[in-house]
Amino acid sequence: MNAVRVRTSPSLALVKYWGKLEGPHNLPATTSVALTLAGLDTTTTARSAGRGAGAADQVMLDGEGQPPARFQAFFDEARRLFKSGQRFNADSHNSFPSSAGLASSSSGFAALALAAARLAGLTPGAETAALASEAARLGSASAARAVYGGFTVLPAGARRAERLYGPEYWPELRVLVAVTSRVPKDDSSRGAMERTRLSSPYYRAWVDDAKLLADEALFALAAKDLQKLGELMRLSYLRMHASAMAADPPALYWLPASLACIRACAALRARGIGAWETMDAGPQVKVLCLESELAAVRSALAEAEPTLSFIETRPGPDPDIEELA
Ligand code: PMV
Repeated sequence: MNAVRVRTSPSLALVKYWGKLEGPHNLPATTSVALTLAGLDTTTTARSAGRGAGAADQVMLDGEGQPPARFQAFFDEARRLFKSGQRFNADSHNSFPSSAGLASSSSGFAALALAAARLAGLTPGAETAALASEAARLGSASAARAVYGGFTVLPAGARRAERLYGPEYWPELRVLVAVTSRVPKDDSSRGAMERTRLSSPYYRAWVDDAKLLADEALFALAAKDLQKLGELMRLSYLRMHASAMAADPPALYWLPASLACIRACAALRARGIGAWETMDAGPQVKVLCLESELAAVRSALAEAEPTLSFIETRPGPDPDIEELA
């Protein structure tokens, strides 16, 4: 087999990672608790590109060649972990806007890692998924989570994510993605979190506080307590963004439409509807709610901000891996 096609979905953090431990290993400074989003797909076709002098790794994303430097550390780590000397050639497509705060780097590096593991001849199974999680982390720490469907945790300082629950664990749960803008962001999460670590007076407080939030969120998720989980999600993203906004220069991802969504969710909760929003390194707002309230949440957001478009998602399946002839 010399080609493989992998489909993954992005990993949305309910409790955020923001900031890395010092050193070259891309280890997260805070624990994140996440779910994989069904229906937002990255599809990557990867081939072996030979070995030795003259062979090179190559990545295309939605038809555009990607800068090799962005992938170097990831491919080197993948070769080390998978005990393979191969170079890889990958062609990747997203069914949703890339680099716009929809976690395309998480599904992207997870797909690359799973594809490289299969091309390196690793047998499918739990140990290979764990190694792929470890390799994916070098590309983007959130990608360590996206090698699994369902619910995951990436503990602070960990090399690999762990699966918490499969996609069927909480079947009524939905995530409404409110797309406020499709313009690629100009402030990468990588750069912004490093700036936050180096210059925000609130970074240390964010990291210290995040541990308790993550522990409590794990309990709330185990109890399927949406209200409790929602309250913790809200603290997590607002404290993350508060630390980022206090960086020098500030990392400010919110648009007027993002704030309109945040306010619409607060108004829904005041009416007794459990709509709990979160935001990442981009202007999109993702709202966790129950299926029975999804239509009410969507129409309240659309009314508050008519320019929005929506993607309705739920906890996503495990990646698909298909060997090609
Ligand atoms: O995976 P990275 O390094 O691009 O960072 C992603 C960080 C957030 O999406 C903002 C939070 C998270 O835990 O996914």
